[in-house]
Amino acid sequence: MNARQRDGKLMKRNGVETFIYFINFFGRGIHVHIRLVVVLLVCGILAVTWASGARIADASPGEKPNKPDDQPERKSPSFKTDVMPILKDACANCHAGRKKKGRVDLSTYDTVMKSVKANDPDKSRLVRSVTGNGAKLMPPKTGLSNAQVKIIREWISAGAKND
Ligand code: HEC
Repeated sequence: MNARQRDGKLMKRNGVETFIYFINFFGRGIHVHIRLVVVLLVCGILAVTWASGARIADASPGEKPNKPDDQPERKSPSFKTDVMPILKDACANCHAGRKKKGRVDLSTYDTVMKSVKANDPDKSRLVRSVTGNGAKLMPPKTGLSNAQVKIIREWISAGAKND
């Protein structure tokens, strides 16, 4: 029986049998290069197992690059991306361009600021009008949704910046 035939037989055997077979292999003093192949194979399997183990360890918890939980500070609404779209949508029909009902122009930051007291939403005519609290309700009859009022209030509370 030559080495190749033995190899073929090896494939068919299960774990323990294979192991015993290996030992017999070496005991019989087979060709050095076949032994070398076996040793290299075992090393290869060990290396792959070790490497994948290391990768799993790397992915395990411990280091989280972004820690959103540590940042309770929320960004306040921006004039351009949060407040202006509301005014455009709900007020521009009557308070922008040629129409400036009640001489109120809500088309630019500077003109909007005439109805705003920075840091004090309760004293801002803009807030009073959209809640109907101390001013005529705007837009007439409907007002704005709570979510929209909240955005305007938060923007004013944060300084009513032109951001
Ligand atoms: C359908 C037209 C219309 C829309 C839409 C509208 N308004 Fe008006 N607004 C008016 C009219 C008319 C007046 C003048 C009312 C008066 O003086 O009796 C007025 C007046 C105002 C005033 C001054 C009133 C006061 O009591 O000081 C403010 C502030 C105002 N509007 C804000 C807004 C805001 C903010 C929006 C959008 C959220 C809005 N309006 C949407 C028609 C509108």
